[in-house]
Amino acid sequence: MTFLFNSDARRGAIFADAFARDLPDVPFTIDAATVDPDAVHYLISWTVPDNLARYSNLEILFSIGAGVDQLRLDAVPPNVKIVRMIEEGIVRMMQEYVTLAVLALHRNLPAYLAQQRAGEWRDIPQLQAGSRRLGVLGLGQLGQAVLDRLKPFGFPLAAWSRSPRQIEGVTCHHGELGLKEILAASDILVCLLPLTEDTRGFLAADLFAKLPKGAALVHTGRGPQLDHEALLAALDRGHLSAAMIDVTDPEPLPAGHPFWSHPKIILTPHVASVTQPATAARAVIENIRHHRAGLDPIGLVDRSRGY
Ligand code: GLV
Repeated sequence: MTFLFNSDARRGAIFADAFARDLPDVPFTIDAATVDPDAVHYLISWTVPDNLARYSNLEILFSIGAGVDQLRLDAVPPNVKIVRMIEEGIVRMMQEYVTLAVLALHRNLPAYLAQQRAGEWRDIPQLQAGSRRLGVLGLGQLGQAVLDRLKPFGFPLAAWSRSPRQIEGVTCHHGELGLKEILAASDILVCLLPLTEDTRGFLAADLFAKLPKGAALVHTGRGPQLDHEALLAALDRGHLSAAMIDVTDPEPLPAGHPFWSHPKIILTPHVASVTQPATAARAVIENIRHHRAGLDPIGLVDRSRGY
């Protein structure tokens, strides 16, 4: 029943300590070269290793990150459970980043940074939070946690998901019609969608056109969801006011890409939220216990949905 850790040694050492302490009956290794492949029942990795078939007794493939779009799901045998990383470190960091981004956009930070660079001292009319409507696309663990963290600021909150949901204090929309509704009523739109065939290229010209004039975008989903040209066009003609972007396609962006220097864009290098090894190890160990008790692991991927 070995657990094979296929990622960086620094995080591996923290996982190793946690397994030795909290799950000592599951042997733990980061050494794929010497492990007996038949002994491997659990594997954690960012991508699907080419030689996955050698682990014929594999029960769970854990993603080391929150996303699973980088895993070739069809290369994983159907009996193997695929599990997303849901752990408090990732959740907390995403709450921090989206709060930072929403407040930055709400308080006109991109414009003030541009003014500072131009040596300009000038106030911009400031909307109060109660008049700045937030819309969050994606209501997974991260979307819900972000909404929860944003509640005390007093922004009117809305969210959109594939299927109907109910969250206290949040206007929930779903489906095609719901998308139109939330877009028309979002002054700041936050994308926290998983990358699937349905969401590739989602943040495109037609979507931006449905947002109110002057709306702003926070993108912490996945790079391929955003049409760069469409965003630039919407910003340059003043339909959108600003954007804070953490994910792009490709990553990193090439030198000279307009996002690097655009005065209405704040760009960060895919750092919004990163797996924290101590809390992640705890979550994985808890999930193995769940699985051994005959329960579904938390974050079990539905292959038909792709997340
Ligand atoms: C980061 O983007 C992750 O998937 O954890």
